[in-house]
Amino acid sequence: GKTIVVTGVSSGIGAEVARLARFEGAQVIGVDRNDASISMEGFVKADLSTVAGIDAAVAQLPAQIDALCNIAGVPGTADRDLVARVNYLGLRHLTEQVLPRIPRGGSIVNVASILGAEWPLRLDVHKALAAVQGFDAGAKWLEKNPVPQETCYQYFKEALIVWNTVQSQEWFLKTGVRMNCVAPGPVFTPILGDFVTMLGADRVQADAHRMARPAFPDEVASVIAWLCSDAARWVSGVNIPVDGGLASTYL
Ligand code: NAI
Repeated sequence: GKTIVVTGVSSGIGAEVARLARFEGAQVIGVDRNDASISMEGFVKADLSTVAGIDAAVAQLPAQIDALCNIAGVPGTADRDLVARVNYLGLRHLTEQVLPRIPRGGSIVNVASILGAEWPLRLDVHKALAAVQGFDAGAKWLEKNPVPQETCYQYFKEALIVWNTVQSQEWFLKTGVRMNCVAPGPVFTPILGDFVTMLGADRVQADAHRMARPAFPDEVASVIAWLCSDAARWVSGVNIPVDGGLASTYL
């Protein structure tokens, strides 16, 4: 079976990906700052918001990793600096550290959001940030180009989608490792309520009328698992909405 590293494994979508991957016979190594709710064979407790925390986690990961699922994330109710570190800068740093351990045919999956759908409006800015190499240089760039607290969640999900798009092909050609995003709409997880605080009740209500219901975590996990599988071996550099059609109603 494959060896799959899953960040954000202790809750929500990450926990579901771990369950599904194990069911399919993979060896799962979960990474989270919180202990996992179910006992796990491979678990690394780590704070993915700092370079030190990420490097300490990487030191405990296996020498060969077939897939990396970047699922850990914080909502926009968290401080914008933490949102930048966990949802974008740290994700990039972890991925760069793990990439050399992923053999040809391996896969990286990043969890973005339907809230990152407006990336074309700020494409140049996000491309500029994607070109900045390294966590600390990225943090400095953000000091010079500050992101408002109110929109930081959307901003860094957009930035993630753009980085995924521009970085993936270079890596695929060089290493044979694919990288893709999934962009969930609302999902029944503990942070669902934070989106009401972030977006306001009116927006959430309007969205609610445009879809049957929020997703169950397994409905997102199954697409992530597919992107990790060999069945998706020619899918690279894309962002797949998993939102019950919600994004299509924004047209
Ligand atoms: P969740 O809150 O249930 O799970 C997130 C996990 O990430 C938690 O276990 C948490 O401990 C971990 N985490 C957060 N900061 C960390 C850090 N500094 N170091 C290590 N682990 C850390 O949330 P959910 O819903 O499962 O979210 C997973 C991903 O899906 C996130 O990236 C989120 O932005 C994204 N997403 C969620 C949606 C939703 O409606 N729930 C919608 C669209 C995207």
